[in-house]
Parts: sequence; structure tokens; C-alpha cells
Amino acid sequence: MTRPLPRFPAGFEWGVGASAYQTEGALDADGRGRSTWDVFCEHPGRIADGSTPATSAGFYDRYPEDIALVRDLGADVYRFSIAWPRILPTGSGEVNAKGLDFYDRVVDEMLAAGLKPAPTLYHWDTPLPIEEAGGWMNRDTALRFGEYAAVVAERLADRAAYWIPLNEPVVLSLLGYAIGGYAPGQELLFESLPTVHHQLLAHGLSVQAIRAAGGRSIGTANPHAPTWPGSDSPEDLAAAAFSADLTDWIWGDPILLGRYPEGYAEGMPGPVAEDLEVISTPLDFYGVNYYSPQRVAAPTGEPSLIQEHEIPAEMPFRAVEVDGPKTGLGGEINPDGLREILLTLTERYGESLPPLIVTENGTSQPGTEEPGPDGRIHDDGRIDYLDAHVRAVHQAIEEGADVRGYWVWSPTDNFEWTYGFTQRFGLVHIDYDTLVRTPKDSYSWYQQLIGAQRDQL
Ligand code: BGC
Repeated sequence: MTRPLPRFPAGFEWGVGASAYQTEGALDADGRGRSTWDVFCEHPGRIADGSTPATSAGFYDRYPEDIALVRDLGADVYRFSIAWPRILPTGSGEVNAKGLDFYDRVVDEMLAAGLKPAPTLYHWDTPLPIEEAGGWMNRDTALRFGEYAAVVAERLADRAAYWIPLNEPVVLSLLGYAIGGYAPGQELLFESLPTVHHQLLAHGLSVQAIRAAGGRSIGTANPHAPTWPGSDSPEDLAAAAFSADLTDWIWGDPILLGRYPEGYAEGMPGPVAEDLEVISTPLDFYGVNYYSPQRVAAPTGEPSLIQEHEIPAEMPFRAVEVDGPKTGLGGEINPDGLREILLTLTERYGESLPPLIVTENGTSQPGTEEPGPDGRIHDDGRIDYLDAHVRAVHQAIEEGADVRGYWVWSPTDNFEWTYGFTQRFGLVHIDYDTLVRTPKDSYSWYQQLIGAQRDQL
């Protein structure tokens, strides 16, 4: 039994979040086009267990079941993502009506279940023709993305409760274009910086398109974490500051302050000053994804590892590991990092910061993810992780952060990118042979938490 939670402010919303590529499967259904991830996954050896996203969690056919599970959880918000290649199979031009119809049904099902739909427009699944034309290295991609956003918003703006244009653009720039761990698998290192500017521009253009279509509550889902230096030496402090600019402030500052951290604007392509006006279009909320803090130190001339990803030796910082509890992906478990980053954002951005929402937080717990002899899944480690992070959010609120919601990643197990099915993040277990759903103990824990918070209102 965990300790009772403190009471959250009235109106605080509890949610869950997932993405299209990780859950839907049905990659050939109803006219969907190919994406960068389809191609990436086809390369032997890239997915840990050789699994494929062909069926994944089967959400495309089973979404009513998953929505009912989230309804029974008592949650307020269901975050999901829309696959760009389902709406525009070639990335631009002709709209695929069946693709739009699918998400229309999903949204209606959520509303009928009393849930607030929170679509993300892009969770890394780029239409292949867009990539072949240069992908995020090409400014046109931002313009095409703005058009795509308008198409979706015109259809769903009357019903979507929250909008997230791009999920974690930093991950795509760093893993997708700089070091090649994720699709499209490019290794451009600092030559990849145009992908930062173009994704930011896509963010701004889509915020404007969604708002023009009548969309409400438009935000972000950027991963943020404190960057702690390995020591107080000037070299480690400088490495930490460099790393924080690259992973946090190069994203937050343009969106919230309309400027880049020092030294970045000069290297960006296009009419940067004009673009920054678009990029900093005001938001209704600022979404933060948090899993682990970052610890970095001065480079040693050797590569280092963040989880499974190698940071090349030539980068001006290296990752540092500390002893202590780790997530299934090998990240440090440190809930206080969440409290700290929520307060850092509050302080750094002041009046420019809209209300915060924790748009992702969760963990995989290998070894505790399969049904035991009693048929139940005792994922106590996940409960401990979530419980501690929820408390950290409460603490941040007490200390002055305006946080309005907390969304668990993820309602069900799903395709964890290069980890395939080896890492399960769900509150609900999925048997990948039968697609049978079984709520884990963490599902009951979250259900009780939400119920108890409601009873206190
Ligand atoms: C991503 C998710 C992913 C999760 C766990 C987040 O950074 O948005 O797609 O499943 O981390 O690794």
C-alpha cells in the first residue's frame, strides 16, 4: 500500500498518452502511405527483438476497447497521435478521406466515453516522399506540415480538447538526424541543426493553422529534464550548459521567448527573425515529457552512452552514469528531477510560460510485466515510479509551478521503437499473440488515485 496522495487543485486533469506508430498497426489499411519508420524497421538488426510494428497493439481495430479501458480508469484526457501518412499518403496534396474518417471515429468514441481527446499531429512517422525530398533538412517540410495541420484541424477542431503539434522534436533531431539511432537514421551531427529550425517553424505554422480552424488549447510535448554536471569543475559546468542548450533551451526559448540561446540563430537557415515570430505564436499550455534527469560532463575523447544510444566522441559533452535505481531503459529514476524542471521552466520563462502539463511520464519494468500464476501483473516498480513522480508534481505546484495535468505514458503496452516489444510501458498488458488486454496492478493504482482525488473535490 502506498501513502495517500496529497490533494491536487480542483480542475487538475489526469490523463494517459500514446502514439499512432506505437499502437495502431494496420500499416497498409485504408490507403495509408509509407513512413520513414516503416523503412527503418525493415533493416535487419535495428529492432532489438526483430519484432515489427505491423500489428503493434492493434489500436486501429481495437480502439473502442482501449478507450473503454481508459474511461473505466476514470481519466480525463486521452492523448493519441495522428499518422501524417494516413491523412496525406504522400505527405502533401490529396487528402485520404479514409484516414481522416478513422481519427474522426476515434475522437467521437473518446467523447462518448467522457474523455477529452488530445491529438498529437506528429510523433516521428514522416511520410516517405517527404523524407525523400529532404525531410526536416528541407524548409518545405515545415510548410507541408502546416498544410497537414490545417486539414486535420478543420476536421477535428470542433471536438479535440487539446492539441500537440509535434512530439519531442529534439529526439528526432538528435536521434533521427544527428546520431542515427532512430528513423531516418542519419548521422549528420551538427550539420543536422536545420532540422531544429524547420521543426520549430512547423510547430509555429501548425499552431496558427489549428487556431485559425477554431482549435482550442494548443501546446507542446517537449522533453525537459534538469542537466546536472558531473562535478563543479568549469569544464563539466560548461559541458552541462552546452548540453542543456541543445536538448532544452534551443526548443523552449524560440517557442516561449521568440529567440535562440546565444550562438544558435546565426547558423539557422532561412529568414530566422521572421520565422521566430511564427515560432513564438502564443500557446495555451506547455507540455513537458519527463522520464529521467540528464547528467553530463566534459568529453574525454571517448564515446559515451545514453541508454542504448552512443554519443560520439567528438560531441562537446559526455553522459555520466550514477549508481541507483534505473528504469527499464536504463535511465536514472529521480522524481525530484521532475519537480526541479517544472520550477526551472517557471522561473526561466516567467510571464511567457502558459500553464504546464506533464504530457508524458512512465517507465517500463522488465521482469514484472508478465502475468503471474494468479493471472495478474504485479508491476510494483511502475507503481512506485508513478507514485513518486505524481508527488513530485504536487511538490512543484506547492512551490509555485502552475501545473494543470499529468498524463501517464502509456495506457497499453506498445511498440517501443528500437526496443520493439522488449520494453512495456502500459498500465494494461498486451499479449502480442492474441492482442488480449489485461490491466496491470498499476492500472488499479491509477484508477484509485483518480477516484480518491475526485472524492476530495
Ligand atoms: C516518446 C515515446 C516513448 C517514450 C518511452 C518518449 O520520449 O515520446 O514515444 O515511447 O519516450 O521511451
